[in-house]
Amino acid sequence: MLSVVVLISGSGSNLKALLDATDNPLFGAKVVAVGSDNPADGLAHAEHYGIPTFVVSPSAFDSREKWAEVLLANINHFKPDLVVLAGFMRILPANFVSALSPNLINTHPSLLPAFPGGHAVRDALNAKASVTGVTIHVVDEGVDTGPHIAQASVPVLAEDSEYDLHERIKVVERELLVATVKDIATKKIHLPSLAK
Ligand code: GAR
Repeated sequence: MLSVVVLISGSGSNLKALLDATDNPLFGAKVVAVGSDNPADGLAHAEHYGIPTFVVSPSAFDSREKWAEVLLANINHFKPDLVVLAGFMRILPANFVSALSPNLINTHPSLLPAFPGGHAVRDALNAKASVTGVTIHVVDEGVDTGPHIAQASVPVLAEDSEYDLHERIKVVERELLVATVKDIATKKIHLPSLAK
């Protein structure tokens, strides 16, 4: 059974999709803890399933590296095989990434390498893209630059607001994330090691 820690920052709809799917013992993976950088609304999904949560806020530390060390210690307590960033809106420093990668994946709401960063949906609209989507990738030390594991596209509609487009992306994203974690659990996907 693949044990998974999920990190979130917001509403956690991707987390909820993973929790619902992994509640089936035949899925092959289970979420063992959920962490956040703030008291995020999405932590309630974990509490609903009786799964432990932890919050490590960067504001309590005088450097990103020290914050990341404590975040890592909280994760390591649960000895996960895989860490999933599902709407975790912080850039992680090198000490954190090198301790976990390639068993550290992120879901991002664009067809990377297009529109990396924290405003991917807005950036796609501003660029008048006709198609955007979702990318699940291994996290490396860059911002949304790691090797891609899975992608799915979503058409941009003329009347789309940022909210509407993001909600349509998230419908596709939740399904792709669940399928990707299942494929990692069943060893259909082998996470690529990062070139040093
Ligand atoms: C997701 O669309 C995820 O790809 C995005 O935040 C959303 C979280 O939604 N992440 C990023 O933009 C990271 N750069 P959720 O809280 O409903 O799962």
